[in-house]
Amino acid sequence: MTFTPAVPADRAADRVRAATGPDEAAALAYPNIALVKYWGKRDESLFLPVTSSLSMTLDIFPTTTTVRLIDGPADTVEFNGATATGSARTRIERFLDLVRTTAGRTERAMVVTANAGPTGAGLASSASGFAALATAAAAAYGLELDGRALSRLARRGSGSASRSLFGGFVVWHAGEGDGAVGDRSSYAEPIGGDELDPALVVAVVNQTAKAVSSREAMRRTTATSPCYRSWADSSMTDFTEMRAAIARQDLPAIGEIAERNALGMHATMLTARPAVRYLSPHSLAVLDAVLALRADGITAYATIDAGPNVKVLCTRADAPHVAATIDGLGDFVTTRTAHIGPGATLLPDTGR
Ligand code: PMV
Repeated sequence: MTFTPAVPADRAADRVRAATGPDEAAALAYPNIALVKYWGKRDESLFLPVTSSLSMTLDIFPTTTTVRLIDGPADTVEFNGATATGSARTRIERFLDLVRTTAGRTERAMVVTANAGPTGAGLASSASGFAALATAAAAAYGLELDGRALSRLARRGSGSASRSLFGGFVVWHAGEGDGAVGDRSSYAEPIGGDELDPALVVAVVNQTAKAVSSREAMRRTTATSPCYRSWADSSMTDFTEMRAAIARQDLPAIGEIAERNALGMHATMLTARPAVRYLSPHSLAVLDAVLALRADGITAYATIDAGPNVKVLCTRADAPHVAATIDGLGDFVTTRTAHIGPGATLLPDTGR
């Protein structure tokens, strides 16, 4: 299988740059992959999570987004070169409403956004997407927010987007309480540890958008899975142990915790009623290959998000061998190797 980017990153960035002027801003953000997952909200409207999560920002598959304030009566949204419709459009409009309310402004906006990677396939496109949108929209509407406040804003578009504001290893604190107290205490921040410099081999087995959104799957799992509470409890332990493992740069421990946390999350989905199953036979084939690599003495551990694609954590030096092993499984899989990437940025000469 050949990986086809929706819009090449450099071309998307050029288009966005060409579209900027006064009252407009463009931003670029990368996806992040959680090593300790966010799975379940304690407050749906404020996007307050049940548990804290921890991720690694990648250096592949960025989203570029421009926001231009316009005179018209409604927002317009262009997504990967076509007019956005349906829930994708509604989510962006609602998010712009939040930005407008926060800024005390009323102008509508023209949004042009493009993903360099697959959308809605469990490759964190909503994380890079809402991190880029939050960064660009805040600048276009004249909101001056520090990183913490911007991460809280991005959280309201997609929880995982709060972490893509920052590069490297990032935690998103669940925070405490509800309402305004919960909102203030639930933010993301970088935690360092980038010297570890691991690789993440992304094994793409399916680029198409998933049938059940992560939002719906999360809701169904928390409401119906008898295993949810025990996963959430063990995830809090995973979070503490993961922070310690990153602090001592212990890649095997990081991998072990990440893999058990992700497989546990999928166990909660499989036990939801009705079950949500993102894992495909191809995902399992990649998981088997990871086990075989470990049996051969390679430090390789898997994590999987809301989709069938598998990400394999390993050392930078082992990444070519890990990628070649997975590519060798057959035509059903293709790999891209990521390393630690930067936080969201305004593109040069935009924003005010
Ligand atoms: O932010 P959302 O709604 O796309 O949910 C992300 C959920 C996972 O990717 C499965 C886990 C995570 O922490 O990113």
